[in-house]
Amino acid sequence: MTSSRDSEQWDVEAEAFDEEPDHGLHDPVVREAWRSLLRALLPPIPSRIADLGCGTGTLALLLAEDAHQVDGVDFSPEMVRRAVAKAGTFPGITFRVGDASDPDLPAAAYDVVLCRHVLWALPDPAAAVARWTELLAPDGRMVLVEGQWSTGTGLSAEQAVALVEDAGLRASVRPLPDPAYWGRKVDDERYAVVGRR
Ligand SMILES: C[S@@+](CC[C@H](N)C(=O)[O-])C[C@H]1O[C@@H](n2cnc3c(N)ncnc32)[C@H](O)[C@@H]1O
Repeated sequence: MTSSRDSEQWDVEAEAFDEEPDHGLHDPVVREAWRSLLRALLPPIPSRIADLGCGTGTLALLLAEDAHQVDGVDFSPEMVRRAVAKAGTFPGITFRVGDASDPDLPAAAYDVVLCRHVLWALPDPAAAVARWTELLAPDGRMVLVEGQWSTGTGLSAEQAVALVEDAGLRASVRPLPDPAYWGRKVDDERYAVVGRR
């Protein structure tokens, strides 16, 4: 993980982004680990999902393959271009360029707001989480995948729980230490937090 970057820097990162095992999910073991995790954390299909800071769209496409309806948002035009190309004509998936902190998406419309490895780098994470709760349908849930990485960046699970609870949701934490998610052994803190009303 790296420190906070602007959209032009992420445009540059886009070309090699999928080379990381957990980004491209090219390794079938890693891909199945994420598919299985998301099936465990998400409501039954078909649910409507906002994937905020969607990058090259790998998770969004994985979810669309499970028949969820996914709207991906990313502020990097090059990430979005690659996500659109990756999804091709696959049904039930859209991508747009926009700010994950304040996405131009309909209110109270999403069963899930999903955000992996983005919240930690936003300028005002508390404001973003509060804004994301407005996107949730009454029984919707927020699924945040974050970490406090060995590089010294990121959010602890305790910090992520506090952000979710301060936005009025009940939070539960699922630690993600299994190398199957990352394509290698990890010794830092990686987790998912699920927030529900
Ligand atoms: C570490 S990548 C994670 C991508 C994707 N969520 C994943 O897990 O594969 C961070 C992504 O967040 C995007 N991003 C960072 N800040 C953003 C913001 N304020 N609005 C929208 N996208 C943002 C970057 O362009 C990049 O694609």
